[in-house]
Amino acid sequence: MAWDPAQYLAFDAPRLEPAIDLLNRIHLDAPEIIYDLGCGPGTVTRMLRERWPEARVTGLDNSPEMLAQAPRNCPGAIWWEADIATWEPSGPADLIYSNAALQWLSDHETLFPRLLGALAPGGVLAVQMPRNHQSPSWTLIAETAQDGPWAERLRPLVRRSPVGVTAYYYDLLAAHTSALSIWETEYLHVLEGDNPVVAWTRSTALRPLLDALDGEQAPAFEAAYAERIRAAYPPRADGRTLFPFRRLFITAVV
Ligand SMILES: C[S@@+](CC[C@H](N)C(=O)[O-])C[C@H]1O[C@@H](n2cnc3c(N)ncnc32)[C@H](O)[C@@H]1O
Repeated sequence: MAWDPAQYLAFDAPRLEPAIDLLNRIHLDAPEIIYDLGCGPGTVTRMLRERWPEARVTGLDNSPEMLAQAPRNCPGAIWWEADIATWEPSGPADLIYSNAALQWLSDHETLFPRLLGALAPGGVLAVQMPRNHQSPSWTLIAETAQDGPWAERLRPLVRRSPVGVTAYYYDLLAAHTSALSIWETEYLHVLEGDNPVVAWTRSTALRPLLDALDGEQAPAFEAAYAERIRAAYPPRADGRTLFPFRRLFITAVV
């Protein structure tokens, strides 16, 4: 799928909040080798560089569009175009950080232990993933996809979220870690603009479906989704829209 960095950054303040919360829960003094997996446009990579300016920070992503933008947002980092599913670092890492990216990969059963295995002793895996697939913003994608002339085309593209419950990650990681914290936070994002949840999902979960439709069907599908979303997320009296958003966090020390 082709990412649009400008569209993604349109909501950079609420999207950065969980990245900062995750960063604040990492207790490392002087990591030397840091990877930012699914670094996107580099805004979070910059926070890693600012916190540990002596470290060698590498931002890794499989989107050329995102990687084209990243050096402007974060000078001084190293950029690596690769698929996280098959990536292996050139040596043990002190910190593997990933904000809002690993939900795009399936098979967490294999992925998470493999990432722990890429850490140096005392190294940290720090991950944040949306776990909001029971919210209307997500369920209405599937509902709209199945209700229209696009159904046959879109049905195979409707994803089940691979993100498990907190206990799933405990069972997967506890035996391989010396310290493990897992928690969830439901953010209440307060968004400006007309029907803004559509613009939010257009740059993420909606994108692969829009990309799969031809010129005429894509706007019709988005309009049908937008109508449902407007009813599910009506504007408040002040014109803003509340968007509750649950996210799962993990910090694992090996
Ligand atoms: C929602 S963005 C998050 C970007 C950044 N971490 C942030 O918090 O601003 C998800 C990023 O993960 C990347 N991504 C998704 N699947 C990937 C994969 N299999 N390998 C590498 N990058 C991937 C996308 O290209 C995108 O840039």
